[in-house]
Amino acid sequence: MRICEQPEDLTPGGCVLVPTMGGLHEGHLELVRLGAAIARERGLPGGCVVSVFVNPTQFDEAYDYERYPRTVERDAAMCADAGADAVFAPSVETVYPTPESRRDPVMPGVAYEPGLEDRAREGHFAGVCLVCRRLFELTGARGAVFGEKDWQQLQCVTAMVRMLGSATEIIAAPTQRDADGLAMSSRNRFLSDEDRQRGLALSRSLLAAGRETTPGDGERAMRRVLDDAGVTPDYAAIREASTLMSLPEGTPIESVTWRAVVAGRVGSVRLLDNMPWPASEGAGPESGG
Ligand code: PAF
Repeated sequence: MRICEQPEDLTPGGCVLVPTMGGLHEGHLELVRLGAAIARERGLPGGCVVSVFVNPTQFDEAYDYERYPRTVERDAAMCADAGADAVFAPSVETVYPTPESRRDPVMPGVAYEPGLEDRAREGHFAGVCLVCRRLFELTGARGAVFGEKDWQQLQCVTAMVRMLGSATEIIAAPTQRDADGLAMSSRNRFLSDEDRQRGLALSRSLLAAGRETTPGDGERAMRRVLDDAGVTPDYAAIREASTLMSLPEGTPIESVTWRAVVAGRVGSVRLLDNMPWPASEGAGPESGG
């Protein structure tokens, strides 16, 4: 597997990019498999490129940035098995060559209006918008695959690309879950066994919400489940799916696409999850997007 540090080392002519910060797990590999299949289908010369870049502009806590897993050799081997054509692992200087390149991100409303991740992690989406735009430019991505697990991020990037009139198409991939229902995340490795059990309250709260018939009842159901597990959420909300804004009580349910979103700290790890709302008939954790 080629590990490219410079954009010139990548095969030109267009690729599908899978942006990651490394520390890859099975959830990422599903994004890579999807990216590789689309790149092949579209005959893109650059194939599927996986970027591995721990982006300093999106961390609110220096500690989190420092301890973020850095395992590029192992990541590259996993990418090769999943069908990627190259790994792009640029330096901070390549992504942000000047102080100006770290400023003035193009940010859609969903990056700062909903009061969800944007409130819990101030400045986070400014960093995500900055780095995604740069990674799209550096790799010449025609498409970029993002997991639905980071739902607000997916909406931010989709809206940013629309604002920029960019040629990069954003491709959404469903959330991958472990057998117990926990959404896969690089940070799960820091959970103790006990915290992992408590963390399952997030997906359970979303399933409980899905059985209710109004957003208000759904949100109350989520809080009950989290409360019983001793998890204090940063938020547990049912919102319009793409702007993530709350809608007035009484909004006809079927006139809107909704999303239930939840985040909270369990032990030293912040977990987040989301599912479509209301749940479709027979929906289980693995069908929860
Ligand atoms: O989801 C992530 O891992 C990161 O936010 C991303 C999209 C790779 C940007 O650094």
